[in-house]
Amino acid sequence: MKLKKVGFASGIGFILASAGSAVGLGNLWAFPYKVGKNGGAAFVFVYIACVLLIGLVTMVAEIFIGKRAQANPVTAYKKVHKNIGWFGLVGVVIPFFITCYYIVLGGYTVKFTMNSFAADVNILPSFSVNTGEVILYTAIFALLAAAIIMGGVKDGIEKVSKVLMPALFIILVGVVVYSLCLGDGVAEGLAFYLKPDFSALTFDAVLAAMGQAFFSLSLGMGILITYGSYAGKEINILKSAGMICLFDTLVALLAGLAIFPAVAHFDPALLESSRGIGLMFSILPQVFGSMGWFGQIVSFFFFGMVAIAALTSVISLIEVVTQFFIQKFKLDRKKASLIAAAACFVISIPIGISLGKVGICEEEGLNLFGMDWLTFFDEVTNTVLMPVCALFACLTAGWLIGAKNTANEIEESGTRLGWFKNFFRFMLQFITPALILVVEVGGLINKFKDGQASVVIFAYALLVLTAILYFLFFRNTDTGTNEDEKIGEPEED
Ligand code: PHE
Repeated sequence: MKLKKVGFASGIGFILASAGSAVGLGNLWAFPYKVGKNGGAAFVFVYIACVLLIGLVTMVAEIFIGKRAQANPVTAYKKVHKNIGWFGLVGVVIPFFITCYYIVLGGYTVKFTMNSFAADVNILPSFSVNTGEVILYTAIFALLAAAIIMGGVKDGIEKVSKVLMPALFIILVGVVVYSLCLGDGVAEGLAFYLKPDFSALTFDAVLAAMGQAFFSLSLGMGILITYGSYAGKEINILKSAGMICLFDTLVALLAGLAIFPAVAHFDPALLESSRGIGLMFSILPQVFGSMGWFGQIVSFFFFGMVAIAALTSVISLIEVVTQFFIQKFKLDRKKASLIAAAACFVISIPIGISLGKVGICEEEGLNLFGMDWLTFFDEVTNTVLMPVCALFACLTAGWLIGAKNTANEIEESGTRLGWFKNFFRFMLQFITPALILVVEVGGLINKFKDGQASVVIFAYALLVLTAILYFLFFRNTDTGTNEDEKIGEPEED
């Protein structure tokens, strides 16, 4: 009996799974309120430039690093040079920490979906401090993700993405159409969302756009290395990355079109407070509440869609850790994903408690350096670690492998780069890493200015610790490849 290699069955499966990772709370929640806050269409314009100049190039680099190695991020970097395998380990550690807080928010989306018919518009303050319930929903969400991962790359992740991503898109377009047809208030809502205000476009707003692009595209960690390693030899890296960026940006833009006209129509008084993180869980339930019975249905579909988006993102986060456990410790997939999900769940408990009490209800309670735990981990990963990890990818492809070799290797593997080739080489080697450096340094300066040096210190300590762990335990031992996981079915051909 010949065993099959793990991986996606088709190019479209790879694209949809990666898009599933990219499209998440970042698109449906963070993007709309950041646009509203940072200058409308002016911000959108900068954001799109960031996606093209930083996002696309970094994405191609990460998929390339994974695809050529057909292995987890640690082995993938090790293949370039033995001493940089820890870049990959950082790429496994970041998703681990993000999962710990993302599943808490995922639990919220499930709760809010179920609450749609209860007509309890002010559910946030009561639910968020109801510790038992928060933990329960977090557990449900983590288990759901783990169950899908257990099914495997092709039969779990790929199959689910192929159904859920189109479903998400259809629901989103449905809500956009409904919202745009409301009549009164639509114009005001659109103006609130998109009216360009170049004076709001400060340096911090530009930094926010770059950071948002990273997070939204799932860059700066192991995710696209892992998914890239599962991509078949035949996939076109450039086209796939282009489609993922396009889809991700489209969903983010549509989310605003779905939200703001409805807010302006049903509850114009709430428009001003829609510029912050309260948008998703505090403002929207109130808006749905003022829509009458139909609002309950819209709420169900809307929050259901958000839950789907969050689920496919969490799947990708846990998969990175799972892949590493399978390949390094030779565990089977079920065990590996359960261990990964369970470990994240344990850490998610104080995060959930702290978010409700300190973050949402602004009371005294479990905090880290004055921040709620979720904000703390979000800052550690987003502001400090993700740019570092993206820089690792660009420097590795652009300098260690070499921009020229990278471009050639990509072409040899069947991706025509055409006119993009020279542009890509130049960007990969110089411009993109320089811009990422600006994001990192700008983020650090902001943290110091805001008196949040603890975030920076914690993040860099984690980086050093990860490197030490690598040199002690992983550098001179086998860290595995995709070959370690074979599926026990005869090869069909
Ligand atoms: N990209 C996802 C979003 O926009 C979040 C995410 C970040 C998922 C990093 C995986 C990795 O919400």
